[in-house]
Amino acid sequence: MRFLKATPQNIKEAGRVIREGGLVAFPTESVYGLGADALNPVAVAKLFEVKNRPKLDPLIVHINTPVEIERLCTKIDERAKRLIDKFWPGPLTLVLPKSEVVPDIVTAGLPTVAVRMPSHPVALELIKEADTPIAAPSANLFGRLSPTTSEHVMEQIGERIDLILDGGKTPLGLESTVISLVGKEPLLLRPGSLPLEDIEDVIGRVKVLNFEPESPQSPGQLPHHYSPKTTLRIKKIDEVVFENGKKIGLLAFTNPKETSGYEAIEVLSSKGDLKEAAANLFSSLHRLDKANLDIIYAEPIPETGLGRAIMDRLRRASSEHLQKNEV
Ligand code: TXA
Ligand code: MG
Repeated sequence: MRFLKATPQNIKEAGRVIREGGLVAFPTESVYGLGADALNPVAVAKLFEVKNRPKLDPLIVHINTPVEIERLCTKIDERAKRLIDKFWPGPLTLVLPKSEVVPDIVTAGLPTVAVRMPSHPVALELIKEADTPIAAPSANLFGRLSPTTSEHVMEQIGERIDLILDGGKTPLGLESTVISLVGKEPLLLRPGSLPLEDIEDVIGRVKVLNFEPESPQSPGQLPHHYSPKTTLRIKKIDEVVFENGKKIGLLAFTNPKETSGYEAIEVLSSKGDLKEAAANLFSSLHRLDKANLDIIYAEPIPETGLGRAIMDRLRRASSEHLQKNEV
């Protein structure tokens, strides 16, 4: 594995690696992605292997110009066009009927494909240099915390990939919002860095799937996701009970009134700003996860705007782990 700063020269080299069927981790404005040539099924198969990702969970295809979507999707309706005009490049992924160009392994056999045009200059430049759309899941092991720095990528999958492009901390820190425009009604498949309210301002009401650990209604709704290895529970701060000898960590939204009793505390935003909280969420969880705690308590966050996505991640992180301590 090579670890390279995202200079123009190195991005060019990374583009070559992708074209030749290799795997490159790169920054986007949301989280780090692990990229492969989306039109090369063998390269895409490696993505699933490296992440231990079930092949039924489809990938997002990244493009560097809106017109590329016409090659990947068969039907781009008015709603899609309006959203693209308003929010691309940016953290919005659209699910639409796929064209024959897209290999089945990318979409897990579904007749639809998820597409997004990121705004991060390194991501855009990489797609340009690779000269092909890039399929990229978040660059973490399946189910684990998403990476917002190149060090997070290194720790989880560094050994298994060809190249990491280091572009510093990702500015938004939460994955893109995923909207399906396949049916009559637009559907929110994953809350993310673009608030639902902004999307509804452009296309009207969007149907929301509630978090149901027992019956995920789409591949993007799998529970046991975004999880630290340490057990995490959502709890109001005044309901935390301290037990003798138990090491407790706190993930607080704003500065807590009482700090004694905790082994470690992470504050997401001292001014109570949701954008700042979203940007800090995964890096705070990564740090707490390394602090050798018995349990992490996460303070609930108001569920408006970005708060919806943050709470979604916390709920998944706190749902019972199937395979605790497994990598
Ligand atoms: O911000 C992001 O979206 C990051 C960066 C790297 O772009 N990528 C990312 O990819 O989060 P990933 O693979 O971790 O999440 C993609 C989500 C999954 O929940 C997947 O189930 C959903 O998108 N998805 C992809 N294709 C789909 C499809 N055809 N229908 C429904 N859901 C789909
Ligand atoms: Mg992911």
